[in-house]
Amino acid sequence: MNHLFPRHLLGIEGLTREAAIEILDTADTLSHEGVSVPATLQGKTVLMAFFESSTRTRVSFEMAAKRLGAQVVTIAPSTSSVSKGESLLDTVRTVAAMGSEIAVVRHARSGAALFLADRIATTIINAGDGTHEHPTQALLDALTIRRKLGRIEGLTIAICGDVAHSRVARSGALLLRLLGAHVRFAGPPTLLPPGMADAYGVSVYDRIEPALEGADVVMALRVQQERIAGNPLPSLREYNRIFGLNEQRLALAKPGAWVMHPGPMNRGVEIDGALADGPRSLVLDQVKAGVAIRTAVLHLVATHQALLG
Ligand code: NCD
Repeated sequence: MNHLFPRHLLGIEGLTREAAIEILDTADTLSHEGVSVPATLQGKTVLMAFFESSTRTRVSFEMAAKRLGAQVVTIAPSTSSVSKGESLLDTVRTVAAMGSEIAVVRHARSGAALFLADRIATTIINAGDGTHEHPTQALLDALTIRRKLGRIEGLTIAICGDVAHSRVARSGALLLRLLGAHVRFAGPPTLLPPGMADAYGVSVYDRIEPALEGADVVMALRVQQERIAGNPLPSLREYNRIFGLNEQRLALAKPGAWVMHPGPMNRGVEIDGALADGPRSLVLDQVKAGVAIRTAVLHLVATHQALLG
């Protein structure tokens, strides 16, 4: 089955449905109790090149790589030559020359992962590039939903908030649609770029209430203040008033609907703290699924490399 898997994981775009399902299935298989994780990355080095802040993505990739037997080296921009102006390409090329076979890359520029994959021999895993894609987040979200609801096909999933700046929304929509879900994007008009419906095959709403009606799963997105230019929101308090996910609004969704958030959360802005900590919340299930997905992805790319010789 490994022939299905691509050499890099740059985005959900370009991933086949079969490869996506293979990742989800491998994640489940490798996280069964009593299953020992194969040492597929024994003797290999995984580079963690995070040019943007991260907690859960970086830590879970690192845990996953170590579970598979890899050595992990990390580049932190503030303490590496990046702070002296070294380029992304030179930085990753330097560490690749020291012998790292796989680089997990996060960067503020959309297209950074593809840029590297086109230029160096290392396998590149995209851990988030600008507002473009975050494929392992989409995969862990899909796994979380499949684990809870037993399927993805036919579900209605509302992704709500700062769609404009969200790579999570873009990768999520591509994957959930590929797996047969109906996806809705909801955001205030200033955070909802035109053309989303056609580009992603989703229904688009500029108010949250109609987007929630009958949804099986509601995913709140972080208001990405670090990427927002030009004051598209009157204030965060106002945002919470018109778009915040709370118990009252969740009541519009299907009875028993699940709540998700990729983290980090702005409690009291896009999501009520009580809802995030409540019984309908899958936030920590998502974190757990993150380790499983990243283990599966690293295992599959390593197996693929072995097949290529
Ligand atoms: C997301 C990201 O970095 O794109 N976080 C994550 O990976 N869990 C979402 C966000 O930062 O809001």
